Amino acid sequence: MSLSETERGQMLASLRRMGLAGPQEAVALQPLTGGVSSLIVLARPAGGPVCVKTALPQLRVAAQWLAPVARNRAEVAWLRWVAGIVPGLVPEVLGEDPVGHAFAMTWLDPQRHPVWKTELRDGRVDPVIAARVGGALATIHQASAGRPDLAAAFAHDAQFHALRLDPYLGAAALAHPDCADALHRLIARTAGNRIALVHGDVSPKNILCGPDGPVLLDAECAWYGDPAFDLAFLLNHLLLKCAWRPAHAPAYLRCLQAAAQAYLAGVGWEDRDGLQARVAALLGGLLLARIDGKSPVEYLDTEPLRAPVRAAARHLVLHPAPHLPALVETWRAFMKIPA
Ligand SMILES: Nc1ncnc2c1ncn2[C@@H]1O[C@H](COP(=O)(O)OP(=O)(O)OP(=O)(O)O)[C@@H](O)[C@H]1O
Ligand SMILES: [Mg+2]
Repeated sequence: MSLSETERGQMLASLRRMGLAGPQEAVALQPLTGGVSSLIVLARPAGGPVCVKTALPQLRVAAQWLAPVARNRAEVAWLRWVAGIVPGLVPEVLGEDPVGHAFAMTWLDPQRHPVWKTELRDGRVDPVIAARVGGALATIHQASAGRPDLAAAFAHDAQFHALRLDPYLGAAALAHPDCADALHRLIARTAGNRIALVHGDVSPKNILCGPDGPVLLDAECAWYGDPAFDLAFLLNHLLLKCAWRPAHAPAYLRCLQAAAQAYLAGVGWEDRDGLQARVAALLGGLLLARIDGKSPVEYLDTEPLRAPVRAAARHLVLHPAPHLPALVETWRAFMKIPA
């Protein structure tokens, strides 16, 4: 993938507005991903390499859902706040350019920061990383619970509905009319809980495995809402990996348990059992959403791979597990994963 001349010009203007490049300075620019909604570029100004993320006003594919460029501001605000709560968990914000819907952050060399999704796929399944992520999420939720200032700063209810609740759970309800009541109750309950600062996209794709621990990226869906969503989103990805690489399924479930245990140990803002029940209920819906929602998981690309996940998900939506151990038992049974 290469940058167009227009994109190069916009990127340079952005770097100059952020004070990261001089007015006449030529800067080497290298796109890092073929992003659909954002441009992620490694820029090499004289001051040293930086990573610039720019929200594209027009998605490069047929719009899947509403994605206003303001999400770039939400991401910066989340990154800045979390940097003060869990040191090292996020790249440092080096500059912000609201005019260009962009920000700059420290560049994390992929050689030393592999993406966790790739590690998991290739069988390097480390429960220590999972526990670190779970623990960090609980720390963020604990520190942000009961904070009216954060509730006001991240009152992104409409955006969260448009980016998460509707395309995932709402779309699954359309595909499964007999599950629609349960899924709509789940949407209403989740949307109504304004408890803590949620990342909204805690997926192994957005986690780098750095030498000093995990690094969490991509906070565009940040929302002051239901912390159960973050844990459920993370655990959902670990469940889905079992269908992708069955040989590693027991190890993925050990990661799930490690993440959940570390998270629950850090829950002091509300009753753990109630929270766990919300996570378990959300997990059924999120599993179904990744099969029949608007953003189906790309690696389960044949019907034989999807069918058992759909069956387990439907069961969990119609008969929610009361807690995570019960949910894992149901999952094992449907997916035929040995204990
Ligand atoms: N600070 C960084 N240093 C190095 N690489 C980065 C950095 N930030 C992002 N990347 C690379 O870009 C990829 C996409 O980043 P990010 O998830 O923030 O963008 P996105 O457009 O929201 O992605 P997607 O829509 O695919 O989730 C990351 O997986 C990583 O490979
Ligand atoms: Mg991402």
